[in-house]
Amino acid sequence: MSGVIERYRSFFDINAQFPIVTLNEGNTPLIQAPAIASKTNVPGLQVFLKFEGLNPTGSFKDRGMTYAVSQAKAQGATHIICASTGNTSASAAAYGARAQLKTLIILPEGKVALGKLSQAILYGADIVEITGNFDQALDVVRILGKAQGVAIVNSINPFRIEGQKTGAFEVCDQLGGKAPDYHFIPVGNAGNITAYWLGYKAYHAAGRIQSLPKMFGYEAEGSAAIVKGHKIENPETLATAIRIGNPASWQGAEAARDESGGKIDCVTDDEIVAAYQFLASKEGIFCEPASAASVAGLFKACSQNLVAQNSVVTCVLTGNGLKDPDNAIRFGKSEKITLPPDPQQIATHLGLTL
Ligand code: F0G
Repeated sequence: MSGVIERYRSFFDINAQFPIVTLNEGNTPLIQAPAIASKTNVPGLQVFLKFEGLNPTGSFKDRGMTYAVSQAKAQGATHIICASTGNTSASAAAYGARAQLKTLIILPEGKVALGKLSQAILYGADIVEITGNFDQALDVVRILGKAQGVAIVNSINPFRIEGQKTGAFEVCDQLGGKAPDYHFIPVGNAGNITAYWLGYKAYHAAGRIQSLPKMFGYEAEGSAAIVKGHKIENPETLATAIRIGNPASWQGAEAARDESGGKIDCVTDDEIVAAYQFLASKEGIFCEPASAASVAGLFKACSQNLVAQNSVVTCVLTGNGLKDPDNAIRFGKSEKITLPPDPQQIATHLGLTL
């Protein structure tokens, strides 16, 4: 299976000669989550997880990056540049390498999960950490992007949003040509909620689905600019992927909420961690903390009676748990002990009878 542009070619404004830079992104599984459904206590609820952590660089960013980098290459750029909390930079570095463009990355110092940083380093990007946060990094990128030959590949680049619409197309295809009733999604810079909503609307307009979901987006409480109605100067959350105080697609997120009859709300770090642990230990799914905000949001919305009985819900799990081994080790509940290679001693420790 080729990547998302080829697969949904009729939804992209390109001709047959358009050169596509792809790593066969997309086609990620939609996994049913019975333990989550049962924990919500909403009768007849069906919950599906769109596991975007199985994209080539481990996050949903690849859907938009294939198109943004293809366009940059086609238009003769020599460099791509982005600000990032980690995943965008990993994806940009991979597609940049694939296209043989120089990739420039501006990161908030000390706030990028280890797996993401290691990806950007091995893919060979030029990395600058700033003594500031993501919002400041994006401000820098908006200016550096004016330099000769440089294309910005943050989601302020509309090609990123175009590519990310394919997530919504896949969800509908995987549900057998239907939209879910509710779509839960983490919100950081707000590009993805914007893209999913545009994707659902495009599929609806094309007659591929007969209804539209209500869009429920979740910021982290310490970075909840949209919920609070103002920029957050010093955003904080352990879900560093969504540690953003001035979302670039703020208006797109509000449009998704208002047009769909949905909600933008926030979840605390404790709620995020609880969902992160639940996903791993009760569903066997390892996502990164920011991704678990969608499931934390589902639990919250159900406790507020905002989700109707017998409905179909999708939660996007935006990134792979391997991105952030530090938080996995910090919040994992397994016990680990070192023993000699003595079966009897190990059996005793594990409570087994030999
Ligand atoms: N989940 C993960 C794992 C992310 O990396 C991001 C954004 C989001 C959710 C939020 O998506 O920004 O479209 O609302 N990460 C960006 C980055 C900011 O630089 O990797 P959004």
